[in-house]
Amino acid sequence: MSPVFGRRSGQLFVEEVPLAAIAEMAGTPVYVNSAGGMRAQARALIDAFAGQDVQVCYAVKANHHLAILKLFASLGLGMDTVSGGEIARALKAGCPPERIVFAGVAKDDDEMRQGLRHDIWQFNVESIEELRRLDQVAQTLGTRARVALRVNPNVAAGGHDKISTGRKGDKFGVPVENAVSILGEAARMPGIEPVGLHCHIGSQITELAPFEAAYLRVIEAWKAVRQSGVPITRIDFGGGFGVHYREAPNFTIADYAAMVKRITTGLGAKLVLEPGRFLVAEQAVLLTRVIYLKETGEHRFLVLDAGMNTLIRPAMYGAWHDIEPVGIPGAELAPTEVVGPICESSDFFARGRMLPRMVEGDLVAIMQAGAYGRVMASDYNSRPGPAEVMVDGDQFDVITRRRPVEKQYEDEVIPPWLG
Ligand code: LLP
Repeated sequence: MSPVFGRRSGQLFVEEVPLAAIAEMAGTPVYVNSAGGMRAQARALIDAFAGQDVQVCYAVKANHHLAILKLFASLGLGMDTVSGGEIARALKAGCPPERIVFAGVAKDDDEMRQGLRHDIWQFNVESIEELRRLDQVAQTLGTRARVALRVNPNVAAGGHDKISTGRKGDKFGVPVENAVSILGEAARMPGIEPVGLHCHIGSQITELAPFEAAYLRVIEAWKAVRQSGVPITRIDFGGGFGVHYREAPNFTIADYAAMVKRITTGLGAKLVLEPGRFLVAEQAVLLTRVIYLKETGEHRFLVLDAGMNTLIRPAMYGAWHDIEPVGIPGAELAPTEVVGPICESSDFFARGRMLPRMVEGDLVAIMQAGAYGRVMASDYNSRPGPAEVMVDGDQFDVITRRRPVEKQYEDEVIPPWLG
């Protein structure tokens, strides 16, 4: 559990605030983010890389809330974006364009124009087709796009098949062996300024070895590209550092930084990192309330007011999240099915989890919910969307109001010909 969460007189607190007070003010389900926790993670990363030429760009997709982007931008972090919408959010939150990276497997013309008009720092390009398109779009605007080519180092990594991206059969990047020829072509394009190489091999990686294997291939390609006469200066190593869900990763951020230092010393490259999960995952909980304790004799079902519509990770990836009673936990543990109110069996948070008995009205915290939580919530089953709160020390505020169902259907149109 992140040190920003802890118990006082048995009650679960975030920083200086009892979670029960937040439920009372904001209702449930509500995502509760710790500003102190996020700041500490960012500082740990910055400190680990002290003395190395590194730009950390927060992967906006992990939680794109404006307040979170502002918090990281004010610490000097850049933003790793994957859509025009994320670029708009980064700018709105005060991130300067010279710290914005635009990645993503397919950027359309409008998004390219948006990035170019703001003169963002780097486009991470994933294919020769996309490179040619970006060249054309930049030329029509009379400008040049700074491009890092995403290479696929063919390394298997990632905590789950669905979030592994660096294998040959994955849709991302170009084969690393094509880097020299593609960047050679890029250097001849009037609308392109090749600046570097990029890779991202997956997410929730808990071992150091796959990172090192992939980075060594990228470094080899980086040298080959420079030898071929294309003076690239940057290496973007992506994100993917694992966090502590069920088990702690078996490396620390200091180990990771030391490895990077060891293999990049003397290259003279500017490094870019794109962590998302590491910065936010453990610094938020999904606070939810028990609607019923349903006991069937054989099974104990704890039915919560949050479901797969609120946090989809267990249903989608079989992901583990710790589950904590917010009030004083009872001493006796029993296997519990922790489920949501949605009409399908995949709507669960945990199966057979050993938990103290909780009953109707009790508050439950689903831990490590800060990354890919609120941003992947949906309107499925037309329940009001979760609210979001930010805590900083002893102060807290609602940062996303609960989305009423009327808002969900506000943009729906019944065609007049339906009568
Ligand atoms: N850079 C690129 C190019 C990425 O595709 C990603 C994540 C990141 C950086 C940030 O990775 P992180 O540091 O957060 O691991 N929804 C899934 C995770 C999908 C990750 C997608 N790409 C989940 O809930 O586990």
